[in-house]
Amino acid sequence: MLMPPPPNSSSSILRKSRFSPYLFTLVVFIFFISILRKDLACVFSLQLQLDLAPATEKKREKLAFETGKLEEGCDVFSGSWVRDEVTRPLYDESDCPYIPPQLTCQKHGRPDRSYQYWRWQPYGCNLSRFNASMMLETLRGKRMMFVGDSLNRGQYVSMVCLLHSLISDDAKSMETFGSLTVFTAKEYNMTIEFYWAPFLLESNSDNAVIHRISDRIVRRDSIKKHGRHWKESDIMIFNTYLWWITGSNMKIQQGSFEDEAHDMVELPTKDAYRMAMNSMLRWVRKNMDPKKTRVFFTSMSPSHGKSIDWGDEEGGNCYNQTTLIEDPNYWGSDSKKSIMEVIGEVFSKSKFPITFLNITQLSSYRRDAHTSIYKKQWSPVTPEQLANPVSYADCIHWCMPGVQDTWNELLFTKLFYPH
Ligand SMILES: *[C@@H]1O[C@H](CO)[C@@H](O)[C@H](O)[C@H]1NC(C)=O
Ligand SMILES: *[C@@H]1O[C@H](CO)[C@@H](O)[C@H](O)[C@H]1NC(C)=O
Ligand SMILES: *[C@@H]1O[C@H](CO)[C@@H](O)[C@H](O)[C@H]1NC(C)=O
Ligand SMILES: *[C@@H]1O[C@H](CO)[C@@H](O)[C@H](O)[C@H]1NC(C)=O
Ligand SMILES: *[C@@H]1O[C@H](CO)[C@@H](O)[C@H](O)[C@H]1NC(C)=O
Repeated sequence: MLMPPPPNSSSSILRKSRFSPYLFTLVVFIFFISILRKDLACVFSLQLQLDLAPATEKKREKLAFETGKLEEGCDVFSGSWVRDEVTRPLYDESDCPYIPPQLTCQKHGRPDRSYQYWRWQPYGCNLSRFNASMMLETLRGKRMMFVGDSLNRGQYVSMVCLLHSLISDDAKSMETFGSLTVFTAKEYNMTIEFYWAPFLLESNSDNAVIHRISDRIVRRDSIKKHGRHWKESDIMIFNTYLWWITGSNMKIQQGSFEDEAHDMVELPTKDAYRMAMNSMLRWVRKNMDPKKTRVFFTSMSPSHGKSIDWGDEEGGNCYNQTTLIEDPNYWGSDSKKSIMEVIGEVFSKSKFPITFLNITQLSSYRRDAHTSIYKKQWSPVTPEQLANPVSYADCIHWCMPGVQDTWNELLFTKLFYPH
């Protein structure tokens, strides 16, 4: 704190001064007062900041749709699968006409239904039961949008299956327009949509039907190309993972795909993935309002293509698996680990609150729940394949009803109880 001017020093100046001593005292006085005031203001504002800092930390802004708090220490993603033949499945395969033929396992001859009777039980608390009428009321007048690859499409279809039975037949529809699929519930003035963008960024695999390209190329800084279709969404659910896993590197195009001179670089997959995540976050910050909207990100969906991963003999996969992996520490192949690190790193720095659906570990126990050979095939099955079903089993996608309904129960829980 400034001391008032000592009388001696000021009087010594005064004596040398030609100005009237009275006027000079006044000038010096004003000078010191002005310094003093600045200083006071500074001290005061510091005090304010110190007082406010812990308060804002405690009184975190309530997120859109938030109605309460989870029990202290409840990590809904940490738990185990419990056999439940009473409340599962949440709907019947034949009661949901929106399941694409690539996911209708019963219709395509799967001999067992055991995969349908499992409920996810967190260790520290109970999941709130998926309440379809509450979800529909919440979505009234709103646009919910899933963006990503076929696994996110599965979660989208599961959400529609969980809700549609409460809507009369003439008041609902599902239509596809290129990359966009829209489920409309007229009486709720609501849509649930899926947008195909397996890398989120523009890529050479963006055609919603013809996208099985082995030499995959992603274009840097191109999220706007798809993002213009996502604006005015109230709830967004992103995912992206599987398409990045083509080797240790990913091809990144710097300019437009139409450019003659290809300005191409190869980045380690981890760095390319980080670039895409940062693009997504930038898009979200620019286009979403954290007070009115919510953004979710679903982590990597695990596949079960190699039985040695879970200690079985080599050569098998998810085909003919009817039991769960019991090792609670089972994780599977390693590419998931480095991608999970990138996700953790990017989200910990994010200023926009993203709700993370960490479904990787819980789904990794479910070697029994993939579509395997019980699905509509892209091309006719050859006699050689028929003789060796393991060779054409799909160990990536999930039968429906099944695991992806659990992802939506977690989404439901985190929508209303984000913390
Ligand atoms: C979870 O539900 C079970 C049975 O419904 C009940 O016994 C148990 O106390 C609940 N646990 C918690 C943490 O609420
Ligand atoms: C589901 O939510 C509605 C409100 O939207 C409520 O009236 C009903 O009791 C809830 N059902 C259950 C089983 O909690
Ligand atoms: C339907 O919802 C939109 C917002 O998505 C809103 O602008 C519009 O007014 C709503 N219409 C009716 C009839 O409620
Ligand atoms: C499926 O696995 C069981 C053992 O769990 C085995 O007995 C059976 O032969 C297998 N079936 C086929 C068709 O591979
Ligand atoms: C997701 O869960 C797994 C296993 O529970 C954990 O190892 C990982 O760190 C979690 N990821 C993030 C980003 O929180």
